[in-house]
Amino acid sequence: MTERNRPADPNDRVAALRAQIEQANHRYQVLDDPDITDADYDRLMRELEALEAEYPELASRDSPTRTVGARATGGFAEVRHALPMLSLGNAFEQEGDTGRERFREVAEFERRIEQTLDRKEPTFSVEPKLDGLAISLRYENGLFVQGATRGDGETGEDVTANLRTIRAIPLKLRGKGWPEVLEVRGEVIMLRKDFEAFNEYARTHGEKPLANPRNGAAGSLRQLDPAITAKRRLSFFAYAVGVVDGELPPTHSATLQKLRQWGFPVPPEVGVATGFEGLLAYFHRIGDSRDGLPYDIDGVVYKLDDYAGQREMGFVSRAPRWAIAHKFPAQEQSTTLLDIQIQIGRTGAATPRARMEPVQVAGVTVTYATLHNADQVMRLDVRIGDTVIVRRAGDVIPEVVRVVEDQRPEGTVPWSMPTHCPVCNSALIREEGAAAWRCSGGLICAAQRKEALIHFASRRALDIEGLGERFAEALVELDMVRTPADLYRMSVDDFVDMKQCLDELDGTTPDTVKAGKIATKWAENLVEGIAASKHTTLPRFLFGLGIMHIGESTAKTLAGWLGSLDAVRSTPASVLRVLPDVGNEVATSIASFFAQPGNQEVVDDLIDVGITFSDEGAPSPLLKTQLTLEALILSTSIESVAKVYAGNLAKAFDSVDALLGAGTEGWLKAGVKKKAAGSLEAFAGNDQAVQELREAEATMRLLLSAIPQAGTTRVLPLEGKTVVVTGTLSMLSRDQVKEQLEALGAKVTESVSKKTTFLVVGNAAGSKLKEAHRLGIEVWDEARLSNFLLQQKNRG
Ligand code: IVH
Repeated sequence: MTERNRPADPNDRVAALRAQIEQANHRYQVLDDPDITDADYDRLMRELEALEAEYPELASRDSPTRTVGARATGGFAEVRHALPMLSLGNAFEQEGDTGRERFREVAEFERRIEQTLDRKEPTFSVEPKLDGLAISLRYENGLFVQGATRGDGETGEDVTANLRTIRAIPLKLRGKGWPEVLEVRGEVIMLRKDFEAFNEYARTHGEKPLANPRNGAAGSLRQLDPAITAKRRLSFFAYAVGVVDGELPPTHSATLQKLRQWGFPVPPEVGVATGFEGLLAYFHRIGDSRDGLPYDIDGVVYKLDDYAGQREMGFVSRAPRWAIAHKFPAQEQSTTLLDIQIQIGRTGAATPRARMEPVQVAGVTVTYATLHNADQVMRLDVRIGDTVIVRRAGDVIPEVVRVVEDQRPEGTVPWSMPTHCPVCNSALIREEGAAAWRCSGGLICAAQRKEALIHFASRRALDIEGLGERFAEALVELDMVRTPADLYRMSVDDFVDMKQCLDELDGTTPDTVKAGKIATKWAENLVEGIAASKHTTLPRFLFGLGIMHIGESTAKTLAGWLGSLDAVRSTPASVLRVLPDVGNEVATSIASFFAQPGNQEVVDDLIDVGITFSDEGAPSPLLKTQLTLEALILSTSIESVAKVYAGNLAKAFDSVDALLGAGTEGWLKAGVKKKAAGSLEAFAGNDQAVQELREAEATMRLLLSAIPQAGTTRVLPLEGKTVVVTGTLSMLSRDQVKEQLEALGAKVTESVSKKTTFLVVGNAAGSKLKEAHRLGIEVWDEARLSNFLLQQKNRG
């Protein structure tokens, strides 16, 4: 302990630290509701350990440094562990330049083993340190008989019933050769994906989200009702054994292998390493892949691999001398909340976001964190000025998980959702039952226009090369682009102008000739990229429009069923709803998007500037089985008319007119009961509903008639192929060639791009031929073309 850190009265400080640690233990272990971060907890613990080492007279047997966590409490029976469940000493990164300095504690751990055992470079089992809840599972004659939490290490809680609901825990051991009595120890965790899914559900249903996966695991396991545990998906990984009555291999790593064979999940990252350098290499390797792992880990664990060596090393107070936990920088940190801002997304979603005093979380500086939605801010009661806990894990966006209430400064006020959009000042509205608020400004709102443009140009949509987010934003800000179609009317000069404006704004006006040339080259490339994006596919285009709820796969589904943009943009919700994999939400969203004349205009405009689809065609032949009068009647949801009656009615009447004209008598004769006939009567009197059904029927007939007749659906030989013709041909004019190719299904375009299938060259071919060579595109000469056309003629 340095002079500077030495407290005025160590006695008081020790007492204060113990009180704080005990309170933290209680909240963590018993209430599953911690209010300080692990990093802060570790700091308190280390300070206390250091003081107790420096002033041995202040040490006491019941100090939190001597006991492990809190005792079991609550409604579970107690289980005494026959072999105590121990804790691990921690190694943290220190100041220093070399590995040995920064990882001094690991180096000391390793050296001590080398010296005690008089062995060079011993072998270790190296493992991820899973962040969940430690448990012990007892198997007798291969059957799971009891499972308990660690509790205080000596006594835990009997959570057998809850553990039985976890699929990863074998109820019966597999294979053979297991000891008669076997205690397997390991960690119950919640995988990141299950945690995310749980919280997504909680947030949209007004329930309390989990602070982190570890709390999720602990809270779920300590539920008194196993049904609740079962509903929250928990996982389990084994990392050690307890009491064993029988034979086990002589090393820990071999034991883990056995556990795998007997049916226990063991983390795939487990391995062996030798010496200090081996340990560090493992630490860095796992550290680098940490964000991509399916679970949260807070470090790695090194265990001397051979049991004989372990016995020789022994224990100190609560931890073995043969193992250590090497901790990563913490995933949760506390900082001060400076502001709550509202961000407007592409579809107008207004999301509160926290701006904070910058803080390092798991090795990254974090200034912004999501607050998810207004309800969440209210639930957490986050106020400007509060000390908040930010969490960053995996590749998810950092989030504020809770407020440290006892550090709240005076004079803070509860936050409330603003009533107007901070960008366009339109009203913020909330749809019934939805968690999200939206800006009602639509494309008036520059924030939405920006996001829409970025989305339209993004890689999985129109894939416009060279238009980054910054430029898309600038185009909207400078009002050079209002809709995506405007992009296709921009010239090289326009972009050069824009770049100049931007540079001036940034105060970096480079007015040299060279800079001008670079800007022109950049603009030329961008214009080329924009032009190339015109040749696209229908799903990309539909996705790019940024319609709410239309992701990539829904866009593909729609394009697959309906075939063409015209069909998609004119099909009413009542028909869309009937298509498999298209839910009500999607159907309504598409139909209301295209019901807005402004949106139809943008789409027209995009077609006018030359957007074409390589994959447009007829509706899918499978529509015949899906899009039937029965399906339409069913989706109209007439009371008491379910599947059987809808079928009967569709069998008896072949059109909506015939159906409505039949009247009660006709319906009864078709096989529906009185009650349903009554509902039909009421339906027939509802003009709007009838109108909708008629419209749906008309669309249905149109779509079905566009499906090519069976037998004649010969796929054209050049269907889906894009061809370019260049140079002079001797036997045919270019227009004739074009016509013949198109008759075979090809799309004939003017310029060679990545999307070109082949290039037909005549005499004096120039730049297009060069471009085709550069892109490695197939080239046909006139002889090959005539041969091909002749063959096709003979076949047809
Ligand atoms: S071994 C005697 N191995 O960390 C050693 N523990 O701080 C007993 N943990 O209570 C533990 N991953 O909850 C061990 N691969 C691993 C672990 C691990 C996570 C947890 C466990 C334990 C705590 C000790």
